[in-house]
Amino acid sequence: MTTPRPFSPELTAKIERFRSFATPIKLGQIHFDSKLILAPMAGICNIPYRLLMEDLGAGGTVSELISCHGINYKNRRTLDMLKIHPLERNVGIQLFGEDAEAMSNAAEITESFGPKFIDINMGCPVSKVVSKGGGSALMKEVQNLAPMFETMKKKMKVPLSIKIRTGWDSNTRNAQEILKIARESGIEWVAIHGRTRTQQYTGSADWEFIENLHDERKLPLIGNGDLHHPYATSERLQKTGCDALMIARGALRNPFIFLESLDPTYASSKRSIFTGPDHWEVVQRLREYTEQTFEDERTILVQIRKLVVWFSAGFPHAAQFRGLQFANQNLEDCMKIAEDYFLSISNSQKFINYDEVFMSSGHG
Ligand SMILES: Cc1cc2nc3c(=O)[nH]c(=O)nc-3n(C[C@H](O)[C@H](O)[C@H](O)COP(=O)(O)O)c2cc1C
Repeated sequence: MTTPRPFSPELTAKIERFRSFATPIKLGQIHFDSKLILAPMAGICNIPYRLLMEDLGAGGTVSELISCHGINYKNRRTLDMLKIHPLERNVGIQLFGEDAEAMSNAAEITESFGPKFIDINMGCPVSKVVSKGGGSALMKEVQNLAPMFETMKKKMKVPLSIKIRTGWDSNTRNAQEILKIARESGIEWVAIHGRTRTQQYTGSADWEFIENLHDERKLPLIGNGDLHHPYATSERLQKTGCDALMIARGALRNPFIFLESLDPTYASSKRSIFTGPDHWEVVQRLREYTEQTFEDERTILVQIRKLVVWFSAGFPHAAQFRGLQFANQNLEDCMKIAEDYFLSISNSQKFINYDEVFMSSGHG
């Protein structure tokens, strides 16, 4: 595992400028470098992306959801997902499952891979997970929660956190009750996506609901949902009662969102100082991390290409660029196309259309 090539002095200076605005925080026993944390995303929050986002200001990261049964069956691909890079600082592994014994056995195995914390997925709305009693279905059977948390904690040394939704549906928004159970069972913090399971990704995250939870809570709370623009994130950061905020989709189209959201004056200008060439540097670093993590050429290509295409969102001719990327099946060609594209837009501003629906499904 080698450290990556440094960013250019220009990009480093920009990154450091924003970093100076970050407020380190402690949630339970864990220190985070900033209040803005990368939310778990299936198929995305693997080692390369987590490392990249930490380099670009995320105060901590969480893996994608990983099946407790896959871990217990010692499924090779599942165990690979538990791996952590030595350069990762504040990383947690997220587990999903429905059974206390299976979850605690999986947590014990997970701990041997060295995460700073383990998180339970209690927000996944996907039928395949929910129909077996995992993900957001855990929020329906509140009587099972304390026994599950306590059984898991008995086998664990690192902190245990949970990520929930506001409730199952609009009639059963029981996050407050779950917070109480979590606190009494020694959960370290709770992250909450401000939608119900039934909403999936429709409507808006209910920040009023999240902020009101804050009043009665006695354990750290991380708010999440629809923080897609540095401006919205910065505004929320200034007025929130939450201890920290999590960003998921916003970091896909804007890899600099963790940094840009830190300076309120800058974020309110709604203009970005990060250029096409800056994005090209980020892509090169992503490549380094991806090649260190995966061996299979096809996997490397697929992992890099999907992010490169998202990163181009909002720049001129991004649709054409996307078409060119997907017309090529060779990593070198794709990188050359990315280089030519990002270097050619050095004077262009990024204008993302936030009214456009972007990624309206996911596992939490
Ligand atoms: C593609 C995708 C995959 C996701 N996977 C997970 C996951 O594995 N675990 C989880 O708790 N949440 C998952 N989520 C939910 C996000 O962590 C987050 O709660 C949700 O997207 C709302 O935040 P956002 O508006 O910042 O995107 C996923 C979301 C997306 C879009």
